[in-house]
Amino acid sequence: MLREADVLSTLMRRKPAHSLAQDLYCDPGVFQADMERIWYKEWLFVLPSCEIPKPGNYIVHDIGAYSVVIVRGHDNEIRAFHNSCRHRGSVLCKSKKGSHPKLVCPYHQWTYELDGKLLWARDMGPDFDPSKHGLKQVHCRNLSGMVYICLDDDAPDITEFAQQTARYLAPHDLENSKVAFESTIVEHGNWKLVWENNRECYHCSGNHPSLCRTFPEDPRYIGSDNSGVLSEVASNHVTRCEAVGAPSAFLESALGDWRYVRTPLLDKAESYTMDGKVAVSKPNSSIPFKDAGSLLKYKYPGCWNHFLSDHILLFRVTPISAMETEVCTKWIVHKDAVEGQDYDLKRLTEVWLATNDEDREVVENNQRGIQSPAYTPGPYSPTHEGGNIQFTNWYAATMIRGITGGVTPIAAE
Ligand code: FES
Ligand SMILES: [Fe+2]
Repeated sequence: MLREADVLSTLMRRKPAHSLAQDLYCDPGVFQADMERIWYKEWLFVLPSCEIPKPGNYIVHDIGAYSVVIVRGHDNEIRAFHNSCRHRGSVLCKSKKGSHPKLVCPYHQWTYELDGKLLWARDMGPDFDPSKHGLKQVHCRNLSGMVYICLDDDAPDITEFAQQTARYLAPHDLENSKVAFESTIVEHGNWKLVWENNRECYHCSGNHPSLCRTFPEDPRYIGSDNSGVLSEVASNHVTRCEAVGAPSAFLESALGDWRYVRTPLLDKAESYTMDGKVAVSKPNSSIPFKDAGSLLKYKYPGCWNHFLSDHILLFRVTPISAMETEVCTKWIVHKDAVEGQDYDLKRLTEVWLATNDEDREVVENNQRGIQSPAYTPGPYSPTHEGGNIQFTNWYAATMIRGITGGVTPIAAE
């Protein structure tokens, strides 16, 4: 099990534009360092706000050693609290999802308001001060209907991400939507392999027969060679969408932790369906044409999303151990869309249910092959795997910055 100093030297000896060293995908010490330096520090997407539409609705999200309750208050604000009672630490919400007018600890019934204030604690004596025993808050932001949390006391500034999210998501009405379907799978692979697989479509033609009916494999459709240079079809698409007020141009953050771009689908396809036509007849976007393509977004390390003209796909990544990662997918439709009338659930979900399963298999094969003593890092395709180069650069830079406190050590010879 690597210590953090070993993690740092492994990162410093990294061969650029190559897959990472074996330990970085397999070692429990690296996993711990990833959790502490990335997952406990960065903003993480947890759920769409429409999933907890009423005061008292909550979900519990577990991440590494932490458990967090995300709850809508009586004032309609969404807040996040550590799921640990301020009496003797019991878990407060035992189920993953539910609705309570107050948060009552199952152990000795200490009772908290939905804003975290302690309301009631039986027989705690005259010196007990309830105001000092409110729930511990976790940073929480609702950005255009996507709820993010940050476990670190000193949360990174997300002002620019919030502004750009408001702009890019404006045509997609996530707040007035609902979850039509949700699937959670565990991939037996390191979280970075899940991301690397997401960041390239080099594997698509050989593995995704359903997705390839509509999704373009050409990286210049989505600027995933990171030049931001799009093909003519793609840049015409951006111009067409922007002309109707739907921000679409390739935009990547300075630190490389998020990106937006709206890509056309193949042959004027409208949605990720087997026949390329919309899956939902009551759309949750205001874009006035159906072939608006897909607004592709990611925010490392916790989510990638697709915003289509008719529905939205939210993918959430949660590492479980060095070689296990949960991927939760939500299909989001207009809140008034009726199943069987405005959409057929099989038609809506079949392409990405198949694609997720195919991705799980390639990630698991990748992990198993990397565990071989014979594995050595191999080169990324400059044409197709620019996204992997971008992701591994972001990962290495973020880890090195975190471990050294921002001081870049001299690379070891
Ligand atoms: S641990 Fe919660 S009331 Fe005792
Ligand atoms: Fe894939």
